[in-house]
Amino acid sequence: MNQPHAAILNPPPLPGPEPLRAALATIRPGHALPRAFYKDPAIFQYDMRHFVMAHWHCVGHSSMVAAAGDYFTVDIGSESIIVVRGQDDRIRALLNVCRHRGSRVCTQSQGNAKTGNFVCPYHAWTYDCSGRLTNARLMADGFDKTAYGLKEVALRVCEGVIFITFAQPPLDFEQVESSFGRTARTYGWAGAKVAARRAYVVEANWKLVIENYQECYHCGPAHREYARRHIFARPQAQREAPDRAMAERDAALGIELAEVDFYAGDAAPGQECADCGRSSLVEGFRTGSRDGRALAPLMGEFRGKDYDGGFSFLDVGPTSNFVAYPDHGVIYRTAPLTVDKTCFEVMWLVDGNAVEGRDYKVEELLWMWDSTTGEDKKIVEVNQLGVNSAFFEPGPYTPMEEDTQRYVNWYLDVMRRI
Ligand code: FES
Ligand SMILES: [Fe+2]
Repeated sequence: MNQPHAAILNPPPLPGPEPLRAALATIRPGHALPRAFYKDPAIFQYDMRHFVMAHWHCVGHSSMVAAAGDYFTVDIGSESIIVVRGQDDRIRALLNVCRHRGSRVCTQSQGNAKTGNFVCPYHAWTYDCSGRLTNARLMADGFDKTAYGLKEVALRVCEGVIFITFAQPPLDFEQVESSFGRTARTYGWAGAKVAARRAYVVEANWKLVIENYQECYHCGPAHREYARRHIFARPQAQREAPDRAMAERDAALGIELAEVDFYAGDAAPGQECADCGRSSLVEGFRTGSRDGRALAPLMGEFRGKDYDGGFSFLDVGPTSNFVAYPDHGVIYRTAPLTVDKTCFEVMWLVDGNAVEGRDYKVEELLWMWDSTTGEDKKIVEVNQLGVNSAFFEPGPYTPMEEDTQRYVNWYLDVMRRI
């Protein structure tokens, strides 16, 4: 990271911990969280500090900034970040806050800084793609441009997937490399490209979005099309035989896809958490497609071999989730915006050499997870409306909500240590 740009972030002071402590005192183990965790703006500020600012978050894929000057912007809470490839080929995460009087510098969601510059729309201070201030009109003699570069946060590219963190120093990435990285490598994600991106703004607290993502108890009633294709929607006892058959097919194909688990509270101290799980598809489905047929050319180690009738699901940190099929990948990025608004962005990956129209059709590629995510948006928003009621009383989890409970327990452990 360029030293002049690595100014220490200066987050505003947190409100007093009393509302958080009062809410923690009402927790019933094995039950959903009480309303305050989804409604109280003071608790949201603690969430932002201890889960959002403290962890790594996926923001996209390196194919989105393939050429020098290519950039995209990402909003997380009240922060906006410019992810840009510099003339030196390095990808950086620059804070989108002008060093003059604080305007957003870049107001586009993506593009190419053609001249290699970002020009602030307010008084035209100009920054290059590495964040250096190159022009500041009419400033007094002696003004030192080198002290006013855009601030930069840490960025890592793991098998083509871009992660950023606000934390200084950041959590260590080793467990991410050895679980997420290993699996993403098998699926050839470093050589993939983003075929489509969609953002879903959900009128709900970010934890309701993630808690919903972590369990498949709702898949049967809420996602009929998903449940028809994915064994994961069934109770554990019904998953074992098809999952074993998938593992045998992997062995026959010579593909190693291990389950690795360093997730949530199980991460070693100082490490970002990550895991990788496996699950099988219903017989007759090669991938997560409408008709069971292939959606795109096989990727990574599957290329030149065959489908294994399964998929991998991966989680990194508190907000980044992934699904990998042999012919395409799906990135889910959950970005809390305010206490009751969350952006859920989905990106579809295919092999970097695949040609749209010839090798894949975007509409077919999107169908499974666009419809599933639309269904999730509805159920999560209705969940928030119910939670808002004065009569809401958190009920007990089922065994099928084990991963949601694990996530919530991790969250509570962190909050109790504050
Ligand atoms: S706020 Fe950006 S140039 Fe003034
Ligand atoms: Fe869902």
